[in-house]
Amino acid sequence: MKQIAIFASGTGTNAQAIIEHFRENKNTCVSLIVTNNAQSGVLKIAAENNIKTAIVSKEGISDSERMKNLLKEIDFIVLAGFLLLIPEYLVKSFPKKIINIHPALLPKYGGKGMYGIKVHEAVKENNEIETGITIHYVNEYFDEGEIIEQHKVTLSSADSALNIQIKVQQLEHEFYPKCVVRMVK
Ligand code: GAR
Repeated sequence: MKQIAIFASGTGTNAQAIIEHFRENKNTCVSLIVTNNAQSGVLKIAAENNIKTAIVSKEGISDSERMKNLLKEIDFIVLAGFLLLIPEYLVKSFPKKIINIHPALLPKYGGKGMYGIKVHEAVKENNEIETGITIHYVNEYFDEGEIIEQHKVTLSSADSALNIQIKVQQLEHEFYPKCVVRMVK
């Protein structure tokens, strides 16, 4: 059985979609949720699904011995709204085995601080006619790893940042779990 760890810092809607997608899967399961945020919704989702959790601080994620021990049974790591940078030792320990989703069409609207609603506010500010999602491999820089796939959605001038977020989340929940299935193989 292949084991996935999901790293998330927020509400956890993507984590939820992925957990549901793998629930009946006979070859792969989500066996660990890692968060840096003790208040995050993703902890409740983990509890509801009987999935083991770990809370790691910024310093904690740099502790290679602790993290390697935590992840010793894990085959694949999925970032789903995780705010901390993945350190180089972790990227090297999981070559092409860590992926992230970004709520925009990278390289646009990426980088440090570009997270969640801030991304959609910037898209709105620039009167973009389309936005979308990017799923990419993770390297040691924010949002810079090789792109795996992108999906677009059309925007109208009437769309608020919140509407944009809703449209983008629909794409995320539709495409991210399917992509994880393909990548984990
Ligand atoms: C998602 O929209 C994800 O793309 C984004 O955070 C949100 C987490 O939502 N990630 C980034 O902005 C990474 N830079 P969720 O907690 O409901 O899954």
